[in-house]
Amino acid sequence: MSDFEKKLGEKAAEAEKIIQGFLPEEAGYQKLVIEAMNYSVLAGGKRIRPVLMMETYRAFGGTDLDIVAPFMAAIEMIHTYSLVHDDLPAMDNDEYRRGRKTTHVVYGPGMATLAGDGLLNYAYETAIRAFSVRADLTPYDGDIADRRVKALQVLAEKAGIYGMVGGQCADICAEGKKEATLDELIFIHENKTAAMLESSMMIGAILAGAGKEQVEAVENAASRIGVAFQIQDDILDVTGDEKELGKPIGSDEKNEKTTYVSLNGLETSAEEVKRLSDEAAEILSKTEKSKEFLVPLVLWMISRNK
Ligand code: IPE
Ligand code: IPE
Ligand code: MG
Ligand code: MG
Ligand code: MG
Repeated sequence: MSDFEKKLGEKAAEAEKIIQGFLPEEAGYQKLVIEAMNYSVLAGGKRIRPVLMMETYRAFGGTDLDIVAPFMAAIEMIHTYSLVHDDLPAMDNDEYRRGRKTTHVVYGPGMATLAGDGLLNYAYETAIRAFSVRADLTPYDGDIADRRVKALQVLAEKAGIYGMVGGQCADICAEGKKEATLDELIFIHENKTAAMLESSMMIGAILAGAGKEQVEAVENAASRIGVAFQIQDDILDVTGDEKELGKPIGSDEKNEKTTYVSLNGLETSAEEVKRLSDEAAEILSKTEKSKEFLVPLVLWMISRNK
């Protein structure tokens, strides 16, 4: 394990502790749905989104983790809900996730649907807790008095029809379609995956006090990171190791998905991951502090095999 990977492990553990601190208690007549929610969150995962949020927060000079912590938990809850629903029989129909049976296999499709709904809603219940933290924050872009409102807006928008849900819609529409174009595919990747990475990094920057222009630069970098991340995911769906990935390979072929690999082949796909990651690293390097961890993280992600 490299020094960088050791550091990443420590950051992920830090994020893990924060996420676990915000999970709902399994009690009451709704106990079963809460159990199903916690089952999927506690299955693990790389926690890349909360880590990116925390490290972007730090790269822009943020020091009070209490402000960003509820948002870190919230983004992982929304991400986990997207996976629970993505795996449902009516969507990708996959039975293995994060090294465990998927939520619908253990709890049934009805309860898995509700667990996803519960996680999405609980994400906002959680993010709103950031407003109870006493903090002396500057307004955002002159006209949003409390910049936590801007963060909440980004969280909501990037997960919805103009973000992840929109991308998942286009992903389903392109299933089995022989004539899907590169334009369509880029829309899918930018929305189903990059939007959530944009959200993570933008919220980190916003809460740390960044201005509009800086937040736009972060959005641009995160968009490239996100598209690269999904192309790498498409590559691993062909070349990955199920044990290491913790999810099935060959899912895209089974569902006749349009992916970067199905359109352009493995070699061009790998080149594209590298090109986009380099561009993102270049944008982020303008913020001196991001060179400490954020930029190495982006460059490390190119070589990930899980
Ligand atoms: C999987 O995301 C879904 C994609 C957007 C590619 P991750 O690869 O971050 O999954 P976990 O959270 O580590 O399980
Ligand atoms: C899904 O993309 C992205 C989400 C919004 C969940 P995939 O369907 O390729 O993700 P995996 O491979 O199942 O994790
Ligand atoms: Mg999918
Ligand atoms: Mg899937
Ligand atoms: Mg995939």
